[in-house]
Amino acid sequence: MKKILVATDKPFAKVAVDGIRDVVEAAGYELALLEKYGEKTKLLEAVKDADALIIRSDVVDAEVLDAAKQLKIVVRAGAGYDNVDLAAATAHGVCVMNTPGQNSNAVAELAFGLMVMAVRNFYNGTSGTELKGKKLGIHAYGNVGRNVARIAKGFGMEIYAYDAFCPKDVIEKDGVKAVGSAEELYATCHVVSLHIPATAETKNSIGYELVGKMPKGGLLVNTARKEVIDEAGLLKLMEERADLKYVTDIMPADHAGFSKMEGRYFSTPKKMGAQTAEANINAGIAAAKQIVGYFTEGCEKFRVNS
Ligand code: 3PG
Repeated sequence: MKKILVATDKPFAKVAVDGIRDVVEAAGYELALLEKYGEKTKLLEAVKDADALIIRSDVVDAEVLDAAKQLKIVVRAGAGYDNVDLAAATAHGVCVMNTPGQNSNAVAELAFGLMVMAVRNFYNGTSGTELKGKKLGIHAYGNVGRNVARIAKGFGMEIYAYDAFCPKDVIEKDGVKAVGSAEELYATCHVVSLHIPATAETKNSIGYELVGKMPKGGLLVNTARKEVIDEAGLLKLMEERADLKYVTDIMPADHAGFSKMEGRYFSTPKKMGAQTAEANINAGIAAAKQIVGYFTEGCEKFRVNS
């Protein structure tokens, strides 16, 4: 019997685990659960006899793949797969997939939660500002970016987007103004919401120069990845410009340094963007179905490694 291991250091809601179990058991497979494992050694032990693995931000590197002798497929229940060593997976003959779009509304809603909190001065009792009429810049127009645009319309914001890969007409069809460069986006917008993946090109790309182009009172919202931020550059800028705010769902390595920017910085203690029952159900069950499809029909839709 095939063993499907759900290894989530940040567990899914129980209702999502129940749904995953139903899909797995209906296919005649066994479900194993490793939650809040903390130590990598526990993951190395648990993957030994797993045929398939469902993860979230859990790191699957060459060491994990070496330990997982029976593993055929890893599904990252979510969008970003920078936590999986794709080349090592390919070398081990393991298929890697993600579940694009399944948790994007949850992340987009959290971006607005952070945004409202920041423009209301972190609810400290002083007069803040409203989002209505402000220019919002969506940096990367993927699944999350599109949901951010949809919600921003309800807030009455003027919406701009920059995406190096998404054609302008696709963006503009949504009533969003497509700009030609990241520089233009930051120079135009009061609020910028980050939705770029962490890749070799994007790592450390958001820092002093780019954010420094934002108009007075600029707010940077990060529900993407901490690695895309040049922390030293952003900190230097925030020291020089007391008008700028940074709110993030991914605690910076230098949380202590950013915390000195009193009243202008907030980080969730743990990445919470996709942490809703709905997102857990959508992404978790999609992952389970993709595994069943892979084993029963050889379906490789959403495969991300070669
Ligand atoms: C994603 O890439 O899907 C999001 O960042 C959510 O990640 P999480 O599953 O670790 O919460």
